[in-house]
Amino acid sequence: MRDLTSDTITGAVMSTMGDTENPRLAEILGSLVRHLHAFVREVELTEEEWAQGVDFLTRTGHMCTPARQEFILLSDVLGVTMLVDALGNRRPAEATQNSVLGPYFREDRPQHTDGADISGGLPGIPLFFEGRVVNAEGAPVAGAAADVWHSDADGHYDMEVPGQVDPAMRAVFRTDETGHFSFRSIRPSSYPIPGDGPVGELMSATSRSLMRPAHVHLLIEAPGFQRVTTMLFPSDDAYLDADPVFGVKESLLEAYDTYAPDDGPCRGLTDVPYTLLRRTFVLEPLPGA
Ligand code: BEZ
Ligand code: FE
Repeated sequence: MRDLTSDTITGAVMSTMGDTENPRLAEILGSLVRHLHAFVREVELTEEEWAQGVDFLTRTGHMCTPARQEFILLSDVLGVTMLVDALGNRRPAEATQNSVLGPYFREDRPQHTDGADISGGLPGIPLFFEGRVVNAEGAPVAGAAADVWHSDADGHYDMEVPGQVDPAMRAVFRTDETGHFSFRSIRPSSYPIPGDGPVGELMSATSRSLMRPAHVHLLIEAPGFQRVTTMLFPSDDAYLDADPVFGVKESLLEAYDTYAPDDGPCRGLTDVPYTLLRRTFVLEPLPGA
């Protein structure tokens, strides 16, 4: 292993890893080295560009805290998060499809009973949500845990709303024997992904928009079923075709129907126009279940 050249160095690195005991690790590292070297050769990476890349990744790491995961955000905007999800969760078209989890899920969310108001008193268009969880045959899934979280009318999650100390616009519900759960909140708005770090620099250098279409996140779990991490977008949102994290799927678009206070299924419950969002979630069984 001496006098290596740009032609022989890839094979030399591969041969140093020949004794790797874990075959999957050997496969992943081998492929990584081959693709990384091929990339460096293809673009003829200069020393200056290599140093810039190292600096970018160093700053990405320094930006990470328990509340801010810049590496996952980088994976999101490069399409890697949704690619890994697509490979790991091939579901039939009738089943509810996944989308990105994102950084705003919180473990310390409250458990609420059916129909609860989770708006935390924040201003916005009232939103009524009616969900149903069923299996592939359409039978109700009782006792499923349905986590929901979403932004406010300005596109802020609770931890970003000035003066908001308690969890709001998030909760976990249990489905009843008919698979039903429901809640009241406020209608979410579109918002930008965090742009004040290295990922923001990358987005601006590539003239990409930070704006995500509005959505309500859901994470649904039930024993014997695959976990669904998903979100529902208004079908007329202006940002559907430029989602910076590639999370939009046609099957996850929903009419966010808006009614006058004296009209529609929730008439009389508000004195201002309201939005009603209804959705059935179809769970796939776990392999072997
Ligand atoms: C979100 O929808 O909460 C989100 C997803 C990926 C990156 C940033 C935000
Ligand atoms: Fe979100």
